[in-house]
Amino acid sequence: MDRIVIRGGRPLNGAIPISGAKNSALKLMAAALLTDGPLMLSRMPRLADVRFLGQLLARLGVEVEELAGARVRLHARTLAEPFAPYDLVRKMRASFNVLGPLIAREGRARVSLPGGCAIGARPVNLHLMALETLGAEIELSEGYVIASAPRGLTGARIVFPMVSVGATEHAMLAAVLAKGETVLEHCAREPEIADLAGCLNAMGAKISGAGTDTITIQGVERLHGADWTVTPDRIETGTFAIAAVAAGGRVRLEGADPEHNHALWDVLRRAGAEVTAHEGHVEIARSGPIHPVDIQTEPFPGFPTDLQAQFMALMSLADGASVIRETIFENRFMHAPELTRLGARIDVRGNEAVVRGPAQLKGAPVMATDLRASVSLVIAGLAAEGETVVSRIYHLDRGFERLEEKLSACGADIERLGEETA
Ligand code: EPZ
Repeated sequence: MDRIVIRGGRPLNGAIPISGAKNSALKLMAAALLTDGPLMLSRMPRLADVRFLGQLLARLGVEVEELAGARVRLHARTLAEPFAPYDLVRKMRASFNVLGPLIAREGRARVSLPGGCAIGARPVNLHLMALETLGAEIELSEGYVIASAPRGLTGARIVFPMVSVGATEHAMLAAVLAKGETVLEHCAREPEIADLAGCLNAMGAKISGAGTDTITIQGVERLHGADWTVTPDRIETGTFAIAAVAAGGRVRLEGADPEHNHALWDVLRRAGAEVTAHEGHVEIARSGPIHPVDIQTEPFPGFPTDLQAQFMALMSLADGASVIRETIFENRFMHAPELTRLGARIDVRGNEAVVRGPAQLKGAPVMATDLRASVSLVIAGLAAEGETVVSRIYHLDRGFERLEEKLSACGADIERLGEETA
């Protein structure tokens, strides 16, 4: 297995291009199932998760072509058996999102339940509730969702009992081809939802209100092909912003949308960073001390859970104690013991972590446990004295495109090494 080696203590200075958002790209790819026309997606990140979903779509009969210039062309002219097996859904939870489009287009589907996940139980009850409310008949059998809509899907009012990004997107993906009007209430408002709605509308759907907590969809009979550019990755943007504050220096995040990270800009400024938002890029700099700031993760526009681990690494360097509360996932502090190996002082109690800075971080071998946890170790490694070796970096490759390249272009001493030989 590959490892990443970081020799810390160098500031970051330079420009970093921001890729398309993984969490948007995966849902946009599922949208290709809704039409027999071609969907051309640009600014597609080259990531393991995108490849996994491409494999599943190919198995479902979609022509998947990776083109130059970060483009992917998906063409679901006709579909094969609407079956998504366990081995492909287990590898990548977002694969579950093919269920709604398959029911909408084919009237039936058999899709594996995704199972648990390192950061929490992550049930799919709200996805299934939404599909059932739209008229799908659902049976759970031997780890699979067996769904059919013999009379097609019908628009309905769906009130989500809690905010869920995936369930909001899944309901949209199914309702676009339902008969009549669907009103979704208490929706997630993440930028990825507006991106999906924008793409579906470009394909001929009639969705309004995406990005607010009520989304209205007028069902249409069919969708057509379209060209769509994936929204910039706000989590990648936030990760490099936090890395620049941790390591010090000045970094320009090219192609980032500053509107997507207000909660982060606010806490980074309070932590002592200079954040300047421009049209199409953001500049982050830090030269003075890092101050402690308490945060709590929340659905958008609150502080994102996907930046909590990275922020914890930063807070370990702050000149005082901070409290980090995780409210979205029940087991998302696995990076804390690894950060402790680098010298951070963190006490975890339930969903709260008290981080006592300032720690003199020192390089050590550490292990990645999930995507965002892994990158928090990279950030800590950039600020640590000496050498940090992060193993199990396949987690990183699921969601960060050319991470070492982007960081070394800004002066970081970071490299990827191949398998360790005994
Ligand atoms: C999306 O996951 C993202 N994944 C996650 O990013 C992100 O952390 C999360 O949204 C929150 O922003 C993708 O977009 C592929 P949710 P999702 O449904 O949709 C509970 C990363 O690192 N819930 O908003 O699965 C759930 O357990 C990943 O890129 C139910 O109870 O998140 C959680 O506690 C990790 N029943 C809460 O809702 C359901 O049916 C929010 O989850 C669905 C969710």
